Amino acid sequence: MKLFSSVNDVNDIQKLVAEALELKKSPYAYQDLGKNKTLGLVFLNPSLRTRLSTQKAAINLGMSVMVMNLDKEGWALETEDGVVMNGSTVEHIREAAAVMGQYCDILGIRSFPKLHNREEDYSEGLFKKFVKFCNVPVVSLESATLHPLQSLADLITIQETKATFRPKVVLTWAPHVKALPQAVPNSFSEWMCRAQQENLLDFTIVHPEGYELSEQFTQGANITNNQEEALKGADFIYVKNWSSYKEYGKVLTYKDGWMMDSAKLTNTNNAKVMHCLPVRRDLELASEILDGPNSLVIHEAGNRVWAAQAVLKEMLLSC
Ligand code: CP
Repeated sequence: MKLFSSVNDVNDIQKLVAEALELKKSPYAYQDLGKNKTLGLVFLNPSLRTRLSTQKAAINLGMSVMVMNLDKEGWALETEDGVVMNGSTVEHIREAAAVMGQYCDILGIRSFPKLHNREEDYSEGLFKKFVKFCNVPVVSLESATLHPLQSLADLITIQETKATFRPKVVLTWAPHVKALPQAVPNSFSEWMCRAQQENLLDFTIVHPEGYELSEQFTQGANITNNQEEALKGADFIYVKNWSSYKEYGKVLTYKDGWMMDSAKLTNTNNAKVMHCLPVRRDLELASEILDGPNSLVIHEAGNRVWAAQAVLKEMLLSC
């Protein structure tokens, strides 16, 4: 594997999940695979889970890790081609990515969308240029539109804990005070749609009107605006806020009552509740769920290590 940016970079998702669960049982079984290999993690935005879990995964594989907060510690980056750099930007991504590729065997990059211009964000220009110019395998640590390491960890968590052959998985929009990217729900949706195609689960998305996700990531999903109906019989509920894709980057007005709380579990199949974290307590998700037996959020965050380790292992095997 030379690139991990989407479910479309994975031939066999079930094999990758199985590999991750094997690594969870034997974390140090491939400690020699990464010997004398360096992973570089480049962040243009904050992170807790992605940063630490990917470092831990690399350490388990025997790799050395270098982390750079490029937004704070690097030269101001120019990403456009054909510009005269007589303004505030100091280094072009062409040189910056190429140089990082000289120091690292695998690179990861996190770069959020600006949420001003949909075409610009959805073209994934920065991520694609980074991949093109660094000349080493690249793992997405969350791009403008997708967060595949999170979604792989989510699928691992569902496969590991499901109690029925084909569980009902519901992605539900939740309130938030800020405009958040669509990367996590887009990504969760494309992974769940693939899993549904492979008969692993049934997938439903529920959101208020105006919060439709891009159709490129939701093919095959059942989509509704009725949360009560959607949650009936659910085995897994994935709670997440996102800003509008249609009215790009906007927080639209919505009726109250979209926060996930214990009362909403009544008509589910004693559903397990997931969230990628960080979560705004009692705004997106009630504390009574987060602190109770139905919450999978810490388990899910723990599985980020095995998702990253399975992907890095595949990349090391092709280095
Ligand atoms: N879920 C997730 O990616 O967390 P961080 O933003 O803290 O990495």
